[in-house]
Amino acid sequence: MALKDKHAKQIEATFAKYPDKRSAVMPLLHLSQQEYGWVSPEGIEEVAGLCEMDPTQVRSIAGFYTMYSEEPKGRYWLQVCTDLSCALCGADKFYEDLKKELNVEDGGTTEDGVFTVEHVMCLAACDKAPMLQCNFHFEENLDMDKMRTKLAAWRAEAAKNKA
Ligand code: FES
Repeated sequence: MALKDKHAKQIEATFAKYPDKRSAVMPLLHLSQQEYGWVSPEGIEEVAGLCEMDPTQVRSIAGFYTMYSEEPKGRYWLQVCTDLSCALCGADKFYEDLKKELNVEDGGTTEDGVFTVEHVMCLAACDKAPMLQCNFHFEENLDMDKMRTKLAAWRAEAAKNKA
C-alpha cells in the first residue's frame, strides 16, 4: 500500500508543520524508510510526488545524510558505537560478541532479515558505553545478557508484525 494511503493522517500532520510541501522532504524520507526498511527507488518517487519535487533532488538529499539507507536493511538496524570512548569501556568486545551472537559480519544482515549490524563513530552517549542505536533509538549501558533479552523481544515483535 502506498505511503499516502497507509499514512495519510501522519503525512497531513507533517505537511501542516511546514510552510510548503518540499520542506517536509526529510520527515517523509524517514517515514518511507520506516515503512519499507530503506529508501528505495520507489520510496524516492513516492516522496518526490508527495513533496512536489523532482526525484533527483530527493535522491540527492537521501544520499547526503547517513541516517538514510539506500540499500535494504533488516527490520532492526543496530548501529554500535565503537569509537574511542566506547572502545575503552568494552565496546569492541561487545560488538564482536554481538556479531557472533547474530552470526553476521560488520554491515551484515541476519538470514531472517530481522537485524542489520554495523559499527559507527561517536553517537554522543560516551558515558553510557557500550551503547548502540536501534532504528535511531539509543540503547545504553549494554552487556550481552541485556542484549540477548532485547534481541529476543525485537525478534518476537518482528514475528508479530509479520503475522
Ligand atoms: S565514543 Fe561512543 S558514543 Fe561517543
